[in-house]
Amino acid sequence: MTFLVTGGAGYIGSHAVRRLLAEGETVVALDNLSVGHLEAIEALKTIADGRLSFVKADIGDREQVRATLRDHKIDSIMHFAALAQVGESVEQPLRYYRNNTASALTLIEEALEAGVSRFIFSSTCATYGEPTPEFIPIPESCPQAPINPYGMSKLHVEHMLRDACAAAAKEGRDFGFAALRYFNVAGSDPDGLIGEDHDPETHLIPVIIQAALGQRDAITIFGEDYPTPDGTCIRDYVHVDDLIDAHVAVMRYLKPGQSRAYNLGIGNGYSVREVIESVRRVSGKDFEVRKGDRRPGDPPELFANPAKIKAELGWSAKYTNLDEAVATAWHWFSEHPNGYAS
Ligand SMILES: NC(=O)c1ccc[n+]([C@@H]2O[C@H](COP(=O)([O-])OP(=O)(O)OC[C@H]3O[C@@H](n4cnc5c(N)ncnc54)[C@H](O)[C@@H]3O)[C@@H](O)[C@H]2O)c1
Repeated sequence: MTFLVTGGAGYIGSHAVRRLLAEGETVVALDNLSVGHLEAIEALKTIADGRLSFVKADIGDREQVRATLRDHKIDSIMHFAALAQVGESVEQPLRYYRNNTASALTLIEEALEAGVSRFIFSSTCATYGEPTPEFIPIPESCPQAPINPYGMSKLHVEHMLRDACAAAAKEGRDFGFAALRYFNVAGSDPDGLIGEDHDPETHLIPVIIQAALGQRDAITIFGEDYPTPDGTCIRDYVHVDDLIDAHVAVMRYLKPGQSRAYNLGIGNGYSVREVIESVRRVSGKDFEVRKGDRRPGDPPELFANPAKIKAELGWSAKYTNLDEAVATAWHWFSEHPNGYAS
């Protein structure tokens, strides 16, 4: 079976490529390198025994996508390629709808045309917007009401896939899909072959690590007056290796004609202050922490109820201790303080 991994040069996609190679699969990574890193692909080629190909292409480029699916006889797709910065999506909404929604439509059309049978889509807890308290921890049944274009650009893709899957099933075609709604993805592969490198970096753990490495003057906490035990926001940090475990489990379980959605989180939240203390413990470094104002659209608590995927597939996160997840991130960042070379 040959897998197509879109966004394979990015943070999570490169970890998926690594896992599929380790499972003995053949992989085609497709990425337009708008954000991703060719160095990640080069590092992965060192462990691939010739089973990894790279295609520099945009998912919206119909001809290149069609040729890739045909030439490599792709059976299954893990679709990670997207722009993923909430703030940027508010400033440039149409760029997000073009890249994340319209280009995904081209990919889905070509996948169906090529006879792809399984499609796993990187969705996000941002599709839930600001859940009311009765939906914390968040189950899949929580109403999906995104509050920013990023979340909406992803929700549209869930809807397209669900409807396309239903229509394909009626025609007796083999097509199944799963939307995996990630919470905050963290850490990197423990041996440090690949890691996380976003520019600008907006994820909390890397930002705190940059402060620990002296690359930032200080870390700012946006709001300390939330109704949480220490007043700072609480989020669910799921380790990238656990996340990819879930992708592989879903891929193997998914039957043609099925349309599924699962939350991927550890089922527990850590506050911003707890994450800061964890980075201090793991790195042994101290750094300045400043008080900032609340940011609009930051709910006090967001964490998953992952009971559904546990009951149906037996998946649950192995990294439930925050320090262990942070240690893998610290390992990568301390060895690659400037990230990838380009
Ligand atoms: N990191 C998180 O915490 C998180 C949380 C929820 C959901 N997600 C989703 O997971 C996926 C991967 O996130 P990530 O953190 O690895 O992001 P990333 O930016 O590191 O990787 C995305 C990759 O997609 C590529 N890409 C973007 N648009 C493309 C296009 N049109 N054609 C081809 N390649 C394109 C980029 O070059 C990049 O390599 C995204 O879909 C994101 O929305 C991430």
